[in-house]
Amino acid sequence: MGKRNDSDGAQKRADKLGLGQAQLTIVLCGDEKKAKCASAAEMHRSWKHLRKRAKQLRKEQGIRITTIRSQCIDVCRFGPVAGVFPSGCWYGGCDEETLERILEAHLQGTPPPEQNQIAP
Ligand code: FES
Repeated sequence: MGKRNDSDGAQKRADKLGLGQAQLTIVLCGDEKKAKCASAAEMHRSWKHLRKRAKQLRKEQGIRITTIRSQCIDVCRFGPVAGVFPSGCWYGGCDEETLERILEAHLQGTPPPEQNQIAP
């Protein structure tokens, strides 16, 4: 059986990644080739910070956050652009400081950074 039809293998891999147990899933535009919403350096810094914080939160508090670095989301301004799920809120200008405020808002129920909210 090829990998394309391996649903059992996909389920095992998803389970290993903890995709079904994540409290939050954060999708961050990391399209450094296009780099229209932010510079490649800004995208890289934000991605590194998000990954580091997800690992810290898992290790220190047992909080599971799935992080996904995406290609262009087609917003292409005020980046890096990030979406948070399951809430479906989208933010722009996601530098390290804004990502911290987004994490705090979605994990602890504090107000989200309104000036960065682009949807809904
Ligand atoms: S390059 Fe980030 S949204 Fe298009």
